[in-house]
Amino acid sequence: MKTFLYNQTQDIPAVAQFLKQGQVVGLPTETVYGLAANALNPQAVKKIFEAKNRPADNPLIVHISHIDQLGDLVCEIPETARKLAAAFWPGPLTMVLPRSEKVPDVVTAGGNTVAVRLPSHPMARAIIDAAGFPLAAPSANRSGSPSPTTAQHVINDLNGIIPAVFDGGACEVGLESTVISLAGEKPRLLRPGGITPKQLKEVLGDLELDPSITSDIHLNAVSSPGMKYKHYAPKAKVTLLNGASSAFIDFVNGQAGQKTAVLCFEEEQEKIQLPCLCLGSKAHPEQAAHNLFSLLRLADEQGYEQIFAHCPEKDGIGLAVYNRLIRAAAFDERELECV
Ligand code: TXA
Ligand code: MG
Repeated sequence: MKTFLYNQTQDIPAVAQFLKQGQVVGLPTETVYGLAANALNPQAVKKIFEAKNRPADNPLIVHISHIDQLGDLVCEIPETARKLAAAFWPGPLTMVLPRSEKVPDVVTAGGNTVAVRLPSHPMARAIIDAAGFPLAAPSANRSGSPSPTTAQHVINDLNGIIPAVFDGGACEVGLESTVISLAGEKPRLLRPGGITPKQLKEVLGDLELDPSITSDIHLNAVSSPGMKYKHYAPKAKVTLLNGASSAFIDFVNGQAGQKTAVLCFEEEQEKIQLPCLCLGSKAHPEQAAHNLFSLLRLADEQGYEQIFAHCPEKDGIGLAVYNRLIRAAAFDERELECV
């Protein structure tokens, strides 16, 4: 199959046409690129799972372009959801809510909840509008590899497998959306992202953090199925190191290795003698979020076999960076005093 690459507003009807025909297309969002299909057409949604090689028990996020499309997808809109939508939509927040019967089982992996998001990327919303139906869309990577943050990443993974990709530039946030469940007794953060726990607590008052966010808890107990899979991993072995910059710099400078790179902060780069993949400034953790997946893909392209990564602060958007990094490291996280 030939994969067409579009990037003009006037191409949106062509992209929408593929979606109307039950095909899947790659599209930009403010978080990462999505692999989209008509959420209400089970045959179309199945093609997403095939293209990504995604396990069928991992449910998809449904993307809408206007809040009035939410009512059709869920059986009730709790007050908490209204408040969160008012505060953070359009934007990088996904809400898990009790599903309506309109949502096909293939989208929810047979579960009784559905994840919904209203993205802020103008092209994502224009494509949803042009299609005329909500779009189920996971990240547009092959299952297991880092999520794509540019159209080129999507092409690298899915060229010849999907009919079209819309290039809307590099994704601003760079990590997938924050996922919060409002289907249980208390609001529960399932996946950290661009909307931070502090921001959510300011609106909700109360918020539980799912233990899978920071740990490799028993896989069956995971409430966000996607968190249990090997994720975000480059081919290189990643080791995540905790400790002060000085200890990190000393440690990596003591490491020899032809194919070793260091994932570090801008402030550390000059003092490191190995090749560096720079996350951005320590003082601006949103830069690490923006750069992380690109850097993991770059590490693969450059053939590194070992990456030593300096652990970010585990709060704010840094928590989301940490959540992706410990998965990239297959939970190999060490304290610098102990290594
Ligand atoms: O930013 C994003 O969220 C991107 C863009 C494309 O919107 N999408 C994305 O989708 O990251 P995906 O499929 O890669 O991740 C969706 C996550 C998975 O961890 C999945 O298990 C979880 O959301 N999820 C989806 N539906 C759920 C549900 N009903 N209950 C609990 N978790 C759910
Ligand atoms: Mg994904």
